Amino acid sequence: MSSVTTLELDIEPITPKFGAYVLDIDVSEDLTDDVIAAIRAALVDRKLLVFTGQALTPDSQITFGRRFGELTASHPVMPSYSREFPEIWQIDSIDGTAKNDEWHTDVTFVQRPPLGSILRAVQIPPYGGDTLWADLEQAYESLSDPVRALVDGLQAEHDGNREFGDYLRQNGGNDWDEGKVTRLDPVTHPVVRIHPESGRKALFVNPWFTRRILGVSDAESRGILDALYAHITRPDFVIKHRWSEGDVLMWDNRSTVHYAVNDYGDNRRIMHRVTIKGDEPFGPTSLS
Ligand code: SIN
Repeated sequence: MSSVTTLELDIEPITPKFGAYVLDIDVSEDLTDDVIAAIRAALVDRKLLVFTGQALTPDSQITFGRRFGELTASHPVMPSYSREFPEIWQIDSIDGTAKNDEWHTDVTFVQRPPLGSILRAVQIPPYGGDTLWADLEQAYESLSDPVRALVDGLQAEHDGNREFGDYLRQNGGNDWDEGKVTRLDPVTHPVVRIHPESGRKALFVNPWFTRRILGVSDAESRGILDALYAHITRPDFVIKHRWSEGDVLMWDNRSTVHYAVNDYGDNRRIMHRVTIKGDEPFGPTSLS
């Protein structure tokens, strides 16, 4: 029999189904297995967790992340923060690596995208630089029955070449899954993803990496994707987080998309992200 977590976290919901502040936890401490299991259950349930007043370092961010599973390299293509911390991606607005100002779920252009991500603010601009997250489960649930029936059966191609292909060709890639990344072959994922832990369904497309719907015409693919992108980013499903020093946010990549708002001009914004290894997405038709 699998063990059951009885520990209750002190959490403050942000909206009825999406997001929560986790109170009274110092994530740099050596947390018990029960606390980690409770955080993981809250992550699956709430999809986005906010820990405020933290004092993480690169070391303790990695240690915290590893409690939820093996960590990936910083990114399949983008360089790590340092040799010492190959798991950390420094998302720096000034050094030209990334601003991440497009709706996306992390790294969906690989066969096994990360399960979740943990982001901490290292340098916050004096104004702006918020991050938005959208709840892909509510987005799916709010579709009408006929549209759900349509999307349940669809597959989509995801491709990271447009964003990362040039960088990869010039600089080479990182170790990811079974080996070093030398090219980015497009991958296929279901348009509706079933969460492996909760069994809930979520729309699993994003404008940064999803290129087309398979098995339909180009015009149909464009029409379907445009409609889905407009739907998943409806304000009703979106949480906006204004960063403060000491904030650490953790999200479930199996049920959310996010967007780093690029409204801080030439001011510098630095974030450190680690990602937890994930599994291959499956959808309603993968089960039949
Ligand atoms: C990300 O896209 O993973 C980072 C988001 C952010 O920089 O706010």
